[in-house]
This record gives sequence, structure tokens and C-alpha cells, in this order.
Amino acid sequence: MSAVAKGMSDSDMRAFSELIAALPVAPVAGGGADADPVRMRRGAELAVRHRCASCHGSDYAGGAQVARIAGQREDYLRLVLKEFQSGARLGYTTAMNETLSGLSPDDLGDLAHFLARVR
Ligand code: HEC
Repeated sequence: MSAVAKGMSDSDMRAFSELIAALPVAPVAGGGADADPVRMRRGAELAVRHRCASCHGSDYAGGAQVARIAGQREDYLRLVLKEFQSGARLGYTTAMNETLSGLSPDDLGDLAHFLARVR
């Protein structure tokens, strides 16, 4: 993304943002129909315990500079959470790196499983 964005002007970025914002929201749930009820419950509990909604919104739809996480692809969510936790992905704040400290790989997987399917 850095390489792609490097050559863009402010007005290019505004135009891309407007284009992307006008696309339909998660037309297909990111995780498919194969919800595992046990993992869904664990993921939901972890999201409450770690206060994901306090920044991402009560329906995980995001807002202002915080990303939507509901209905994103499960594999993408799992990868991003792993990268935030290890520090391989740096956000514009350290909020995510701190939020995920102490969570196990299974916890991250269950969060991704839940968030990909939540509406
Ligand atoms: C203190 C505020 C805060 C809390 C709490 C928080 N997040 Fe975030 N989250 C952010 C911010 C800010 C970003 C954007 C970071 C960036 O890329 O710079 C983000 C980004 C993300 C992304 C990447 C989205 C994308 O499209 O790339 C995921 C996934 C995510 N958060 C999941 C979670 C989960 C799961 C929890 C709870 C375990 C959580 N967040 C708790 C603030 C928060």
C-alpha cells in the first residue's frame, strides 16, 4: 500500500476514498455460512472482554478513522490481528498492538471467526 499510495496526490486519495466509501457494505459476509457456534460465542466474549466495540463501534462498523471490522474476510482479519500483535503491522496509533497483548493464537482465530460473520 505504501508503494501504491506514494505517487498519489491529496485529490487522488480523496477520489479513491469517495469511490470506495460508495461501494456496498460487505455484500457477502466475510466468513461464509459455516459458523461454528462455540467459536462464535468465544469470539463474541473476547470482543466484549477486550472492549473492541469501544473504538470500532457497538456493531463493529467503525467510524471516523477507525476501520470497519464486521463482515471482513476471516483470513484477512486473522492475519491483521497476528501482525498487530507481533508488531509486524504498525498502525497510526499503538492502540491495536496494546489491545491484543496476551491473547493466544486461538483467541485471535476465534475473534476473526466471529467478526467475519457478525452483521
Ligand atoms: C483503543 C482503540 C481500539 C481498540 C480497543 C481496538 N481497536 Fe482495532 N483498531 C483501532 C485503530 C485506531 C485501528 C486502525 C489502526 C491502523 O491501521 O493504524 C484499528 C484497526 C483494526 C483492524 C484492522 C482493520 C483493517 O481493515 O485493516 C482490526 C482487524 C481490528 N482493529 C480489530 C480489533 C479487535 C478484534 C479489537 C478487540 C480485541 C480491537 N480492534 C480493539 C483501534 C482500536
